[in-house]
Amino acid sequence: GAPVEVDLTPIAEGQIVKLFWRGKLIFVRHRTAEEIKAAEDVNVASLPDPEADSARVKEGHAQWLVVYGNCTHLGCVPLGNAGAYDGWLCPCHGSVFDTSGRIRQGPAPTNLPIPPYAFVNDTKIQIG
Ligand code: FES
Repeated sequence: GAPVEVDLTPIAEGQIVKLFWRGKLIFVRHRTAEEIKAAEDVNVASLPDPEADSARVKEGHAQWLVVYGNCTHLGCVPLGNAGAYDGWLCPCHGSVFDTSGRIRQGPAPTNLPIPPYAFVNDTKIQIG
C-alpha cells in the first residue's frame, strides 16, 4: 500500500475522522485540551497495557491521536467520544478505551496500535 497524506485542516477539535490505509481502518482524532490532559494525567503503571500518552503522539502535536480503528479484542469498530473515559467504547463486548486509545476496561488485551506516520507539516500527516 502506498502512503496516504491526510490534510488535518478540516478536522475540528473534538472530531474523529475515519480513513483506510492498506485496507485497515484508522482514526485520526483532534483532541481537545481536556482530552489531552485526561490522557496525560494517568498513573501509567496502573494501566492494563502501560504506555505513556507522550509515547503515543508526536512531540509538539499532542492534539493529534492517530490509531488503528479496530478493537484489539475481536476487531469490532469502537464508537468514538464514548465510554467512561470519553475515548472509545466497543459495542461488541464493552471494551473501554481512553482519549489516548489505551484499553482501560473490558476484554481487549492491548491499546489501539499506532500506525506508522509522520507530520509533513503542522497541518498534514503522511501515513505509511
Ligand atoms: Fe471489542 Fe470484543 S471486539 S470488546
